[in-house]
Amino acid sequence: MKEILTHVCYNIAMSKKLVIGNWKMNPATLDEAKGIASKVRSAASRLDHTEVIACPPFVYIASTGSTGAQSVSAQEGGAHTGEVSARMLADLGVEYVIVGHSEERHAGDTDEIVSKKLASVIDAGMTAVVCVGEKLREESGSHFEYIKKQMKASLDGVPSEKAKKIVLAYEPIWAIGAREAMQPDQVCEMAIFVKKIFSDIFGLDAGRKVRVLYGGAVNAGNAAAIMAVGKVDGLLVGRESVNVPGFVELLKEADAIR
Ligand code: PGA
Repeated sequence: MKEILTHVCYNIAMSKKLVIGNWKMNPATLDEAKGIASKVRSAASRLDHTEVIACPPFVYIASTGSTGAQSVSAQEGGAHTGEVSARMLADLGVEYVIVGHSEERHAGDTDEIVSKKLASVIDAGMTAVVCVGEKLREESGSHFEYIKKQMKASLDGVPSEKAKKIVLAYEPIWAIGAREAMQPDQVCEMAIFVKKIFSDIFGLDAGRKVRVLYGGAVNAGNAAAIMAVGKVDGLLVGRESVNVPGFVELLKEADAIR
């Protein structure tokens, strides 16, 4: 555990932070999408220490030149109406794909489906942003066991040499869409915990290197504390990622943290 803690701090100091915007099913028109993307791109170009990835709905990816996607099919191709494969996304220039978001898990994605999606993202040469998080917190600390099981089942079958193609997004479900984010000191505890589980699965070196993001009610007002005290490598931002003034401010706050 001590080794992991040392390297949580090491990661923060050494590598660029990663802020991913999950636009969800927003905005309503392509024109608006292009406007958001270009303003965010210009703000991102002024940052020195932060990589910014937008994940718009599939239909906006190409025309906004985005390099992130919110989802992917578990299937490779063929008779799957309405689905979009990992290969198609990679072909569009996508580099990061969110898998296992709680809204998709809620709609039916099991750990098995998440692990299939993860495998197809990695096979297509992209990085998977794997979301994990508990539904609720109890005094007993049952959320630790819940997340451990969720991680083991979702990451099942990924060969160790591919662990570097995974980013972990810790998102407590009760904080997603909520008014308040998790307290930064609790974020820190969970960041260390998920790194520890990751290293149990893939080895200490992979555990040291994996980037951990926090998601759930992040905004310009809490981003700095979550990054600094929470000691995460970045943020997964929902609502605020399509609110341009708020998101630009959030990026500046995140970029200023050392
Ligand atoms: P939120 O969503 O920032 O709107 O709480 C986060 C997410 O769903 O990833």
